[in-house]
Amino acid sequence: EAKQDWQGKTFIITAGPTREAIDPVRYISNHSSGKMGYALAEAAAHAGAKVILVSGPTQLPTPTGVQRVDVETTEQMLNAVQQQLPNCDVFIGCAAVSDYRVAEVASQKIKKEQNNQPPQLKLVQNPDILQQVASSEKPPFTVGFAAETENLKANALRKLERKQLQMIVANDVSQVGLGFNSDSNNAIILSKDSEQSLPTMSKHDMAIAIIDAIAKRYFNTTAN
Ligand code: C5P
Repeated sequence: EAKQDWQGKTFIITAGPTREAIDPVRYISNHSSGKMGYALAEAAAHAGAKVILVSGPTQLPTPTGVQRVDVETTEQMLNAVQQQLPNCDVFIGCAAVSDYRVAEVASQKIKKEQNNQPPQLKLVQNPDILQQVASSEKPPFTVGFAAETENLKANALRKLERKQLQMIVANDVSQVGLGFNSDSNNAIILSKDSEQSLPTMSKHDMAIAIIDAIAKRYFNTTAN
């Protein structure tokens, strides 16, 4: 097993959900716990990398040696990532980013009595952080996640192509007790010309396996 030394390299890892305000007290979000992203941050730091963890709201402690930047919305997450990007060697997009946000956030709490009808939320598309990183001027080694409920491999490979990623970690989220909010996971790690199936294991162990898989490819495809 090739244990590569990440000394001198910088990872940016996004983790957790994003939160899109509807009004001052309500928001759109999802069930992401942030566990996988935090486990990756811990594993990369343990392997010697400098790690910047750009995190949506979670209940998790910051892993030792990791620099954490807290954000709420997708746009804040994108800004935080872009600020750190010039020094980034590896980007892992593990956050469950909200694909949509409310077009106009209400400045006051939306009241029942203001509407005879239920309010209609107008949604607009959020930026795709992963895609923007992968198509930036000097892109880092870019790793995405794909949570799929069917045609796992085919859908993940399409995503790899479309977003121009070096690697994608595909999870079957239709399996009860795995993935979202759970402590274990199983996955296929895919690149253009390789495939590695990871059996069900803890997110801690999976993070180590993913960082190892990145090392194998990263240190083969770059000069240093
Ligand atoms: O296309 P899909 O959302 O399934 O892709 C998932 C991958 O893209 C994940 O790595 C996720 O972190 C990233 N993503 C992102 N910004 C978005 C949507 C997804 O970075 N707006």
